[in-house]
Amino acid sequence: MERNFKDVLKHRRSYYTIGNGSPVPDKEIEDVLTTAVEYVPSAFNSQSTRLVLLLGKDHKKLWEIVKETLRKILPAEQFTQTESKIDKSFASGYGTVLFFEDETVVKSLQESFPSYEAKFPVWSEQTSAMHQLAVWSMLEDLGFGASLQHYNPLIDEDVRKTWNLPSSWTLVAEMPFGLPVQSPGEKEIKPLEDRILVFKS
Ligand SMILES: Cc1cc2nc3c(=O)[nH]c(=O)nc-3n(C[C@H](O)[C@H](O)[C@H](O)COP(=O)(O)O)c2cc1C
Repeated sequence: MERNFKDVLKHRRSYYTIGNGSPVPDKEIEDVLTTAVEYVPSAFNSQSTRLVLLLGKDHKKLWEIVKETLRKILPAEQFTQTESKIDKSFASGYGTVLFFEDETVVKSLQESFPSYEAKFPVWSEQTSAMHQLAVWSMLEDLGFGASLQHYNPLIDEDVRKTWNLPSSWTLVAEMPFGLPVQSPGEKEIKPLEDRILVFKS
């Protein structure tokens, strides 16, 4: 599927029932990540975003980490509900993209441009968000369904150890994806006239 950019944006949704299959060879998923990292803009062209693609047993391992982490902190009955959501909505998928920001890049910019010091962490988050939307939309365009999750910072340490990632990488979001089993429901769209103003003299 190759829709135009506007149609790709219109089609992207959150999918919470996904299956463990893929409409494309893994190379095309890697190409989505490469395209995002190469072409999505970043503040001061910092290129601070780091992506990790987990497939197969690595994908399953991530969601085991999430479950084991939550099992330790949630009351038993709440955990049972959470576990079934994780199994059906995330672990059941084909893979997960992890979004990190490299803090060494952020710190180096803060040192180089002290007058913007407070802004760089904010711009780093915004840079990550731009990558998230790009990857989310391109995955959907390949025929996947994806969602955006935030089990960080609870899982950060285990994730870093398991995949031997640099300590300067901060986890920002997790994006499980897979075959869309159930379509998302209707979405409420708040009035556009309250949200967009046009001035034209
Ligand atoms: C910044 C951001 C954070 C989000 N965090 C989560 C999250 O932690 N868990 C989740 O299930 N969905 C999360 N979402 C998904 C939103 O709930 C979802 O995009 C929104 O309800 C609109 O639905 P749609 O994605 O189907 O268009 C997040 C979305 C954004 C943009």
